[in-house]
Amino acid sequence: MTSELGRLIARRIAHTGPVSIADFMAEALGHPRLGYYRRALSSSAGPLGAEGDFTTAPEISQMFGELLGAWLAERWLAMGRPSTVRLVELGPGRGTLMADALRATRGVAGFHAALDLHLVDTSEPLRAAQRAALAAFTPTCAPTWHERLDDVPAGPLLLVANEFFDALPVRQFHRTAEGWRERMVGLGPDGALRLALAPGPTPFAAVLPNAAAGAEAEFSEAGRALAAEVGARLREHGGWALIVDYGYDSSAPGTSLQAVRGHSGTGILDRPGETDLSAHIDFAALATAAGVPAFGPVAQGDFLRRLGIEARAHALKRQASAEQVRAIDAALARLIAPDQMGTLFRVLALGDDRSAPPAGFSDLPSDTT
Ligand SMILES: C[S@@+](CC[C@H](N)C(=O)[O-])C[C@H]1O[C@@H](n2cnc3c(N)ncnc32)[C@H](O)[C@@H]1O
Repeated sequence: MTSELGRLIARRIAHTGPVSIADFMAEALGHPRLGYYRRALSSSAGPLGAEGDFTTAPEISQMFGELLGAWLAERWLAMGRPSTVRLVELGPGRGTLMADALRATRGVAGFHAALDLHLVDTSEPLRAAQRAALAAFTPTCAPTWHERLDDVPAGPLLLVANEFFDALPVRQFHRTAEGWRERMVGLGPDGALRLALAPGPTPFAAVLPNAAAGAEAEFSEAGRALAAEVGARLREHGGWALIVDYGYDSSAPGTSLQAVRGHSGTGILDRPGETDLSAHIDFAALATAAGVPAFGPVAQGDFLRRLGIEARAHALKRQASAEQVRAIDAALARLIAPDQMGTLFRVLALGDDRSAPPAGFSDLPSDTT
């Protein structure tokens, strides 16, 4: 049995023909009423957290948002303390990262007064969670919400995106003896959604490199377009962007699109709108599309360690009960251990200045404080 959105998509395909996986993904996540990130959320936790479908770094520990906040404040100082800077978060989820970042940087003289906070998120239920999480910081840092980065006013930029680019639509291709063929979502004889290759070449197949028959490929034009827009803003108005996500340092063959519901994997066509879809990031492609100085990607574990996460955990544990100490240790391991999020998750910085790596991107002593 499919979902209500699955039936809607099947009806559309019956009328107008197969759609690309990118179109399917955009609909499954972003349909105005039934999309995964748009629909009324059944649990108070929403899709994020222990009761939802997946857990993200800011939901694991306050240390993540605190250290990213410190990184952003340090970049603001490095920019020469502009009197106004657009602080933008793409896909803030429950607002936890931004709340932790703002709380941790209250003591940085002039920083909050300079911030013009913009949150880019299409999800009404998650916007409500963000509003509640950030209530303590208004009116000094009152957020403005947008559907797209395009709508954020121009100006010096500090941008952060954690697990945002992985939610952007991807196209998939399979190499046949006749050339690349795009994988499409069509209908089987029973009327159910089914994956099948396009019978002939589609325009995007022309941009893929030659490969042996049987090869698979995937790319996100939406991700590249967004990175190009971030790069254009950094070039024109200055600033920095920090992108954290799971993925590959450089383009990798194969496909990675995955579906998760209730912390377990499922088929990508399974119950659209009720299932999270995400794909690995091609960081090299993002950096190339941005066209500005790029640092990393580095492993999340190395990045957080260089920013001092172990010292922060130590400080938190000094005031903690035995149970809290165990929870802090478990969260620390989850964020930085190579077999947990420490290596799979990567951190990329984009900026307006190539002269010195920002904190977290090199082993220089100044990065370890
Ligand atoms: C995987 S969640 C990550 C949330 C948060 N950054 C965190 O780390 O907990 C993705 C977030 O991006 C938002 N989102 C997904 N696709 C989007 C799109 N195309 N445009 C704007 N926001 C989107 C979702 O509503 C959600 O807040």
